Amino acid sequence: MRTVRVNLGQRSYSVIIGNGVYLRLGELVADRARSHRVLLVSNPTVFALYGDGVVNSLQEAGLKVVTGLVPDGEEYKTLEQAQKLIDLAVENRFDRHAMVVALGGGVIGDLAGFVAAIYQRGIDFVQLPTTLLAHVDSSIGGKVAVNHPRAKNMIGAFYQPKIVIIDPAVLATLPPREFKNGMAEVVKYGIILDEGFFTWLEEELEPIIQREETIIAEAIYHSCSLKARVVEEDETEQGKRALLNLGHTFGHAVETLTGYQQYRHGEAVAMGIITACYLAESQGMMNTGEAQRVRELQQALGLPIQLPRLQPELIMQTMHQDKKMLAGRLRLVLPQGIGRAVIRDDIDDGAVLAAINRAMV
Ligand code: NAD
Ligand code: GLY
Repeated sequence: MRTVRVNLGQRSYSVIIGNGVYLRLGELVADRARSHRVLLVSNPTVFALYGDGVVNSLQEAGLKVVTGLVPDGEEYKTLEQAQKLIDLAVENRFDRHAMVVALGGGVIGDLAGFVAAIYQRGIDFVQLPTTLLAHVDSSIGGKVAVNHPRAKNMIGAFYQPKIVIIDPAVLATLPPREFKNGMAEVVKYGIILDEGFFTWLEEELEPIIQREETIIAEAIYHSCSLKARVVEEDETEQGKRALLNLGHTFGHAVETLTGYQQYRHGEAVAMGIITACYLAESQGMMNTGEAQRVRELQQALGLPIQLPRLQPELIMQTMHQDKKMLAGRLRLVLPQGIGRAVIRDDIDDGAVLAAINRAMV
Protein backbone atom coordinates (compact mmCIF):
# COMPACT_ATOMS: atom_id res chain seq x y z
CA MET A 1 0.00 0.00 0.00
CA ARG A 2 1.38 3.42 -0.98
CA THR A 3 0.15 6.85 0.01
CA VAL A 4 0.28 10.17 -1.78
CA ARG A 5 -0.46 13.11 0.46
CA VAL A 6 -2.28 16.16 -0.90
CA ASN A 7 -1.20 19.03 1.36
CA LEU A 8 -3.84 21.73 1.47
CA GLY A 9 -3.76 22.89 5.07
CA GLN A 10 -7.02 21.96 6.77
CA ARG A 11 -8.27 20.38 3.56
CA SER A 12 -5.29 17.97 3.30
CA TYR A 13 -5.97 14.33 2.58
CA SER A 14 -4.37 11.03 1.64
CA VAL A 15 -4.61 9.10 -1.58
CA ILE A 16 -4.20 5.45 -0.65
CA ILE A 17 -3.17 3.10 -3.44
CA GLY A 18 -3.09 -0.68 -3.06
CA ASN A 19 -4.48 -3.92 -4.41
CA GLY A 20 -7.51 -5.07 -2.42
CA VAL A 21 -7.76 -1.77 -0.54
CA TYR A 22 -11.36 -1.16 -1.61
CA LEU A 23 -12.45 -3.93 0.72
CA ARG A 24 -10.89 -1.97 3.58
CA LEU A 25 -12.99 1.11 2.84
CA GLY A 26 -15.07 0.86 6.04
CA GLU A 27 -12.03 0.58 8.29
CA LEU A 28 -10.30 3.46 6.45
CA VAL A 29 -13.23 5.88 6.69
CA ALA A 30 -14.84 4.88 10.00
CA ASP A 31 -12.54 6.96 12.18
CA ARG A 32 -12.99 9.96 9.88
CA ALA A 33 -16.79 9.65 9.80
CA ARG A 34 -18.61 12.30 11.82
CA SER A 35 -21.81 10.21 11.95
CA HIS A 36 -22.69 6.66 10.95
CA ARG A 37 -24.70 7.74 7.89
CA VAL A 38 -23.28 7.11 4.43
CA LEU A 39 -24.78 7.94 1.03
CA LEU A 40 -23.10 5.56 -1.39
CA VAL A 41 -23.34 6.85 -4.96
CA SER A 42 -22.62 4.51 -7.84
CA ASN A 43 -24.04 3.26 -11.13
CA PRO A 44 -25.56 -0.17 -11.86
CA THR A 45 -22.50 -1.38 -13.83
CA VAL A 46 -19.98 -0.66 -11.08
CA PHE A 47 -22.32 -1.50 -8.23
CA ALA A 48 -22.95 -4.97 -9.69
CA LEU A 49 -19.20 -5.60 -9.60
CA TYR A 50 -18.07 -3.95 -6.37
CA GLY A 51 -21.19 -2.80 -4.53
CA ASP A 52 -21.54 -5.79 -2.22
CA GLY A 53 -17.92 -5.65 -1.12
CA VAL A 54 -18.13 -1.92 -0.44
CA VAL A 55 -21.45 -2.06 1.41
CA ASN A 56 -20.25 -5.00 3.55
CA SER A 57 -17.03 -3.22 4.37
CA LEU A 58 -18.89 -0.06 5.44
CA GLN A 59 -21.45 -2.02 7.46
CA GLU A 60 -18.79 -4.08 9.22
CA ALA A 61 -17.24 -0.78 10.31
CA GLY A 62 -20.57 0.18 11.91
CA LEU A 63 -21.74 2.55 9.18
CA LYS A 64 -25.29 2.66 7.87
CA VAL A 65 -25.51 2.84 4.09
CA VAL A 66 -28.15 4.26 1.76
CA THR A 67 -27.33 3.58 -1.88
CA GLY A 68 -28.16 5.97 -4.70
CA LEU A 69 -27.67 4.49 -8.17
CA VAL A 70 -27.39 6.81 -11.15
CA PRO A 71 -27.81 5.42 -14.68
CA ASP A 72 -24.49 4.75 -16.37
CA GLY A 73 -23.20 7.45 -18.70
CA GLU A 74 -21.90 10.99 -19.07
CA GLU A 75 -25.41 12.12 -20.08
CA TYR A 76 -26.48 11.52 -16.46
CA LYS A 77 -23.92 13.90 -14.96
CA THR A 78 -26.71 16.42 -14.60
CA LEU A 79 -28.43 18.72 -12.14
CA GLU A 80 -31.46 16.43 -12.40
CA GLN A 81 -29.49 13.44 -11.11
CA ALA A 82 -27.90 15.59 -8.41
CA GLN A 83 -31.40 16.62 -7.34
CA LYS A 84 -32.45 12.94 -7.12
CA LEU A 85 -29.49 12.16 -4.87
CA ILE A 86 -30.29 15.16 -2.70
CA ASP A 87 -33.94 13.98 -2.51
CA LEU A 88 -32.63 10.63 -1.26
CA ALA A 89 -30.49 12.31 1.38
CA VAL A 90 -33.42 14.45 2.53
CA GLU A 91 -35.86 11.48 2.59
CA ASN A 92 -33.37 9.59 4.73
CA ARG A 93 -32.85 12.59 7.02
CA PHE A 94 -29.14 12.90 6.39
CA ASP A 95 -27.67 15.66 8.51
CA ARG A 96 -24.53 17.68 7.89
CA HIS A 97 -22.34 15.04 9.54
CA ALA A 98 -23.25 12.42 6.95
CA MET A 99 -20.76 11.29 4.34
CA VAL A 100 -20.96 10.71 0.60
CA VAL A 101 -18.94 7.86 -0.89
CA ALA A 102 -18.44 7.88 -4.67
CA LEU A 103 -17.94 4.42 -6.16
CA GLY A 104 -17.33 4.66 -9.89
CA GLY A 105 -15.51 6.47 -12.65
CA GLY A 106 -15.17 10.19 -13.21
CA VAL A 107 -18.86 10.67 -13.90
CA ILE A 108 -19.89 9.30 -10.52
CA GLY A 109 -17.01 11.02 -8.71
CA ASP A 110 -17.82 14.43 -10.19
CA LEU A 111 -21.57 14.08 -9.59
CA ALA A 112 -21.33 12.63 -6.07
CA GLY A 113 -18.72 15.24 -5.14
CA PHE A 114 -20.99 17.99 -6.42
CA VAL A 115 -23.84 16.67 -4.26
CA ALA A 116 -21.52 16.51 -1.24
CA ALA A 117 -20.40 20.09 -1.91
CA ILE A 118 -23.91 21.55 -1.94
CA TYR A 119 -25.91 19.34 0.44
CA GLN A 120 -26.37 21.39 3.61
CA ARG A 121 -23.53 23.63 2.35
CA GLY A 122 -21.11 20.73 2.27
CA ILE A 123 -20.77 17.29 3.82
CA ASP A 124 -17.81 14.91 3.93
CA PHE A 125 -16.91 13.13 0.77
CA VAL A 126 -14.83 10.02 -0.05
CA GLN A 127 -13.64 8.99 -3.49
CA LEU A 128 -13.39 5.31 -4.41
CA PRO A 129 -12.55 5.62 -8.10
CA THR A 130 -12.88 2.58 -10.36
CA THR A 131 -11.62 3.67 -13.80
CA LEU A 132 -8.02 4.39 -14.75
CA LEU A 133 -9.01 7.95 -15.65
CA ALA A 134 -10.49 8.45 -12.20
CA HIS A 135 -7.46 6.80 -10.54
CA VAL A 136 -4.99 9.14 -12.19
CA ASP A 137 -6.98 12.32 -12.51
CA SER A 138 -10.60 13.00 -11.60
CA SER A 139 -10.61 11.60 -8.04
CA ILE A 140 -7.82 13.97 -6.96
CA GLY A 141 -7.96 17.71 -6.68
CA GLY A 142 -11.56 18.41 -5.76
CA LYS A 143 -13.04 19.53 -9.06
CA VAL A 144 -16.67 18.45 -8.80
CA ALA A 145 -19.35 19.30 -11.34
CA VAL A 146 -22.35 18.47 -13.44
CA ASN A 147 -22.81 19.32 -17.11
CA HIS A 148 -25.04 22.00 -18.56
CA PRO A 149 -26.83 20.82 -21.73
CA ARG A 150 -24.74 23.28 -23.71
CA ALA A 151 -21.39 23.01 -21.93
CA LYS A 152 -19.49 20.39 -20.01
CA ASN A 153 -18.76 20.79 -16.27
CA MET A 154 -20.37 24.23 -16.34
CA ILE A 155 -21.95 23.91 -12.86
CA GLY A 156 -19.53 22.95 -10.13
CA ALA A 157 -17.19 23.72 -7.28
CA PHE A 158 -13.76 23.03 -5.84
CA TYR A 159 -14.51 20.63 -3.03
CA GLN A 160 -11.82 18.29 -1.75
CA PRO A 161 -12.51 14.70 -0.65
CA LYS A 162 -11.52 13.54 2.84
CA ILE A 163 -9.70 10.52 1.45
CA VAL A 164 -9.18 8.86 -1.93
CA ILE A 165 -8.95 5.08 -2.03
CA ILE A 166 -7.46 3.65 -5.20
CA ASP A 167 -7.50 -0.07 -5.81
CA PRO A 168 -5.73 -0.88 -9.10
CA ALA A 169 -7.15 -4.44 -8.91
CA VAL A 170 -10.61 -3.13 -9.86
CA LEU A 171 -9.20 -2.22 -13.27
CA ALA A 172 -9.28 -5.95 -14.12
CA THR A 173 -12.92 -5.53 -15.17
CA LEU A 174 -12.40 -2.26 -17.03
CA PRO A 175 -13.12 -2.55 -20.78
CA PRO A 176 -10.09 -1.93 -23.07
CA ARG A 177 -11.53 1.32 -24.42
CA GLU A 178 -11.86 2.70 -20.89
CA PHE A 179 -8.29 1.67 -20.09
CA LYS A 180 -7.00 3.63 -23.10
CA ASN A 181 -9.20 6.53 -22.07
CA GLY A 182 -7.30 6.77 -18.77
CA MET A 183 -3.92 6.39 -20.48
CA ALA A 184 -4.57 9.66 -22.34
CA GLU A 185 -4.41 11.52 -19.02
CA VAL A 186 -1.28 9.59 -17.97
CA VAL A 187 0.49 10.62 -21.19
CA LYS A 188 -0.67 14.19 -20.57
CA TYR A 189 1.26 14.35 -17.26
CA GLY A 190 4.45 13.32 -19.05
CA ILE A 191 4.05 16.01 -21.69
CA ILE A 192 3.26 18.88 -19.35
CA LEU A 193 5.33 18.06 -16.27
CA ASP A 194 7.85 15.26 -16.51
CA GLU A 195 9.92 14.24 -19.52
CA GLY A 196 11.45 11.34 -17.56
CA PHE A 197 7.96 9.94 -16.97
CA PHE A 198 7.12 10.33 -20.67
CA THR A 199 10.28 8.39 -21.57
CA TRP A 200 9.42 5.73 -18.99
CA LEU A 201 5.98 5.35 -20.64
CA GLU A 202 7.68 4.87 -24.03
CA GLU A 203 10.05 2.28 -22.53
CA GLU A 204 7.34 0.38 -20.68
CA LEU A 205 4.90 0.44 -23.57
CA GLU A 206 4.51 -3.34 -23.88
CA PRO A 207 3.80 -4.05 -20.18
CA ILE A 208 1.42 -1.08 -20.18
CA ILE A 209 -0.48 -2.43 -23.18
CA GLN A 210 -0.54 -5.85 -21.47
CA ARG A 211 -1.86 -4.06 -18.36
CA GLU A 212 0.82 -5.59 -16.13
CA GLU A 213 -0.23 -4.88 -12.57
CA THR A 214 3.03 -3.54 -11.14
CA ILE A 215 3.63 -1.22 -14.09
CA ILE A 216 0.08 0.12 -14.04
CA ALA A 217 0.26 0.64 -10.27
CA GLU A 218 3.50 2.59 -10.79
CA ALA A 219 1.90 4.72 -13.53
CA ILE A 220 -1.02 5.47 -11.20
CA TYR A 221 1.22 6.35 -8.26
CA HIS A 222 3.41 8.63 -10.36
CA SER A 223 0.41 10.34 -11.99
CA CYS A 224 -1.27 10.91 -8.62
CA SER A 225 1.97 12.34 -7.21
CA LEU A 226 2.32 14.76 -10.13
CA LYS A 227 -1.30 15.85 -9.87
CA ALA A 228 -1.07 16.28 -6.09
CA ARG A 229 1.91 18.63 -6.46
CA VAL A 230 0.05 20.78 -9.00
CA VAL A 231 -3.11 20.94 -6.87
CA GLU A 232 -1.07 21.88 -3.79
CA GLU A 233 0.48 24.74 -5.71
CA ASP A 234 -2.74 25.99 -7.25
CA GLU A 235 -5.89 24.47 -5.78
CA THR A 236 -8.40 26.72 -7.54
CA GLU A 237 -6.73 27.02 -10.93
CA GLN A 238 -5.44 30.55 -10.76
CA GLY A 239 -2.33 29.54 -12.70
CA LYS A 240 -0.35 26.31 -12.88
CA ARG A 241 -3.31 23.95 -12.53
CA ALA A 242 -4.61 25.13 -15.89
CA LEU A 243 -1.71 23.17 -17.43
CA LEU A 244 -3.64 20.01 -16.61
CA ASN A 245 -6.07 21.12 -19.30
CA LEU A 246 -3.65 20.33 -22.13
CA GLY A 247 -5.76 19.20 -25.08
CA HIS A 248 -8.98 19.90 -23.21
CA THR A 249 -10.15 23.06 -25.01
CA PHE A 250 -9.98 21.27 -28.37
CA GLY A 251 -11.24 18.05 -26.79
CA HIS A 252 -14.22 19.64 -25.06
CA ALA A 253 -15.26 21.24 -28.35
CA VAL A 254 -15.23 17.81 -30.01
CA GLU A 255 -17.19 16.29 -27.12
CA THR A 256 -19.75 19.09 -27.21
CA LEU A 257 -20.17 18.95 -31.00
CA THR A 258 -20.66 15.20 -30.93
CA GLY A 259 -23.21 15.34 -28.11
CA TYR A 260 -20.89 13.72 -25.47
CA GLN A 261 -21.81 10.37 -27.03
CA GLN A 262 -19.25 9.50 -29.64
CA TYR A 263 -15.92 9.89 -27.87
CA ARG A 264 -14.67 9.12 -24.42
CA HIS A 265 -13.23 12.11 -22.54
CA GLY A 266 -9.67 10.72 -22.82
CA GLU A 267 -10.08 10.11 -26.53
CA ALA A 268 -11.17 13.70 -27.05
CA VAL A 269 -8.24 14.89 -24.91
CA ALA A 270 -5.84 12.77 -26.98
CA MET A 271 -7.12 14.41 -30.18
CA GLY A 272 -6.74 17.79 -28.49
CA ILE A 273 -3.18 17.00 -27.39
CA ILE A 274 -2.17 16.25 -30.98
CA THR A 275 -3.77 19.50 -32.14
CA ALA A 276 -1.98 21.41 -29.36
CA CYS A 277 1.32 19.80 -30.44
CA TYR A 278 0.77 20.95 -34.04
CA LEU A 279 -0.01 24.44 -32.83
CA ALA A 280 3.08 24.42 -30.57
CA GLU A 281 5.14 23.25 -33.53
CA SER A 282 3.85 26.13 -35.66
CA GLN A 283 4.83 28.55 -32.87
CA GLY A 284 8.36 27.14 -32.61
CA MET A 285 7.68 25.73 -29.13
CA MET A 286 8.06 22.09 -30.03
CA ASN A 287 10.16 20.46 -32.70
CA THR A 288 8.89 17.96 -35.25
CA GLY A 289 10.64 15.07 -33.49
CA GLU A 290 8.94 15.86 -30.17
CA ALA A 291 5.49 16.11 -31.75
CA GLN A 292 6.23 12.82 -33.51
CA ARG A 293 7.08 11.12 -30.17
CA VAL A 294 3.72 12.19 -28.75
CA ARG A 295 1.90 10.95 -31.83
CA GLU A 296 3.74 7.62 -31.78
CA LEU A 297 3.10 7.01 -28.08
CA GLN A 298 -0.61 7.82 -28.39
CA GLN A 299 -0.93 5.67 -31.51
CA ALA A 300 0.84 2.72 -29.84
CA LEU A 301 -1.57 3.01 -26.92
CA GLY A 302 -4.51 2.88 -29.32
CA LEU A 303 -5.44 6.52 -28.74
CA PRO A 304 -6.71 8.80 -31.52
CA ILE A 305 -4.16 10.99 -33.28
CA GLN A 306 -6.62 12.88 -35.47
CA LEU A 307 -9.59 15.14 -35.02
CA PRO A 308 -12.86 13.90 -36.49
CA ARG A 309 -14.06 15.55 -39.69
CA LEU A 310 -16.09 18.32 -38.15
CA GLN A 311 -16.20 21.84 -39.54
CA PRO A 312 -13.01 23.54 -38.30
CA GLU A 313 -14.83 26.87 -37.91
CA LEU A 314 -17.45 25.17 -35.77
CA ILE A 315 -14.72 23.73 -33.51
CA MET A 316 -13.30 27.25 -33.16
CA GLN A 317 -16.71 28.69 -32.35
CA THR A 318 -17.31 26.02 -29.70
CA MET A 319 -13.86 26.61 -28.21
CA HIS A 320 -14.79 30.26 -27.83
CA GLN A 321 -17.73 29.18 -25.62
CA ASP A 322 -15.50 27.07 -23.35
CA LYS A 323 -15.40 28.13 -19.71
CA LYS A 324 -11.60 28.35 -19.87
CA MET A 325 -12.01 31.50 -21.99
CA LEU A 326 -10.97 34.62 -20.16
CA ALA A 327 -12.00 38.16 -21.20
CA GLY A 328 -13.05 36.85 -24.59
CA ARG A 329 -9.61 35.38 -25.40
CA LEU A 330 -8.81 31.77 -26.09
CA ARG A 331 -6.45 30.45 -23.44
CA LEU A 332 -4.58 27.44 -24.69
CA VAL A 333 -2.17 25.12 -22.97
CA LEU A 334 0.70 24.43 -25.32
CA PRO A 335 3.61 22.07 -24.82
CA GLN A 336 7.06 23.59 -24.68
CA GLY A 337 8.90 20.50 -25.85
CA ILE A 338 8.19 17.41 -23.73
CA GLY A 339 7.99 17.80 -19.94
CA ARG A 340 6.93 21.43 -19.90
CA ALA A 341 3.90 23.42 -20.96
CA VAL A 342 2.74 27.01 -20.87
CA ILE A 343 -0.52 28.89 -21.14
CA ARG A 344 -0.88 31.18 -24.13
CA ASP A 345 -3.64 33.66 -24.84
CA ASP A 346 -1.90 35.46 -27.67
CA ILE A 347 -2.20 32.95 -30.49
CA ASP A 348 -4.18 34.24 -33.41
CA ASP A 349 -7.24 32.36 -34.60
CA GLY A 350 -5.64 31.71 -38.00
CA ALA A 351 -2.85 29.63 -36.44
CA VAL A 352 -5.37 27.73 -34.28
CA LEU A 353 -7.48 27.02 -37.33
CA ALA A 354 -4.42 25.81 -39.26
CA ALA A 355 -3.56 23.38 -36.44
CA ILE A 356 -7.15 22.10 -36.39
CA ASN A 357 -7.04 21.57 -40.14
CA ARG A 358 -3.71 19.74 -39.89
CA ALA A 359 -5.07 17.48 -37.13
CA MET A 360 -7.94 16.42 -39.37
CA VAL A 361 -5.77 14.73 -41.99
P1 NAD B 1 -17.14 6.97 -16.55
O1 NAD B 1 -17.26 7.40 -15.17
O2 NAD B 1 -18.30 7.15 -17.47
O3 NAD B 1 -16.72 5.43 -16.57
C1 NAD B 1 -16.53 4.81 -17.81
C2 NAD B 1 -17.30 3.48 -17.92
O4 NAD B 1 -16.61 2.48 -17.18
C3 NAD B 1 -18.71 3.53 -17.38
O5 NAD B 1 -19.55 2.80 -18.22
C4 NAD B 1 -18.56 2.84 -16.02
O6 NAD B 1 -19.76 2.27 -15.60
C5 NAD B 1 -17.53 1.81 -16.32
N1 NAD B 1 -16.73 1.36 -15.20
C6 NAD B 1 -16.22 2.11 -14.20
N2 NAD B 1 -15.42 1.38 -13.42
C7 NAD B 1 -15.42 0.13 -13.92
C8 NAD B 1 -14.77 -1.08 -13.57
N3 NAD B 1 -13.88 -1.12 -12.57
N4 NAD B 1 -15.04 -2.19 -14.29
C9 NAD B 1 -15.89 -2.13 -15.35
N5 NAD B 1 -16.51 -1.03 -15.76
C10 NAD B 1 -16.27 0.10 -15.05
O7 NAD B 1 -15.91 7.69 -17.27
P2 NAD B 1 -14.49 8.18 -16.75
O8 NAD B 1 -13.64 8.19 -17.97
O9 NAD B 1 -14.03 7.46 -15.56
O10 NAD B 1 -14.76 9.68 -16.30
C11 NAD B 1 -15.10 10.68 -17.23
C12 NAD B 1 -15.64 11.86 -16.48
O11 NAD B 1 -14.64 12.37 -15.62
C13 NAD B 1 -16.08 13.02 -17.36
O12 NAD B 1 -17.31 13.48 -16.93
C14 NAD B 1 -15.01 14.07 -17.13
O13 NAD B 1 -15.50 15.38 -17.27
C15 NAD B 1 -14.63 13.79 -15.70
N6 NAD B 1 -13.30 14.25 -15.33
C16 NAD B 1 -13.19 14.96 -14.19
C17 NAD B 1 -11.96 15.41 -13.77
C18 NAD B 1 -11.83 16.14 -12.47
O14 NAD B 1 -10.75 16.64 -12.16
N7 NAD B 1 -12.88 16.19 -11.68
C19 NAD B 1 -10.81 15.09 -14.51
C20 NAD B 1 -10.96 14.35 -15.67
C21 NAD B 1 -12.21 13.92 -16.08
N1 GLY C 1 -8.42 17.50 -14.65
C1 GLY C 1 -7.99 18.82 -14.52
C2 GLY C 1 -7.86 19.29 -13.10
O1 GLY C 1 -8.12 18.57 -12.18
O2 GLY C 1 -7.54 20.42 -12.88
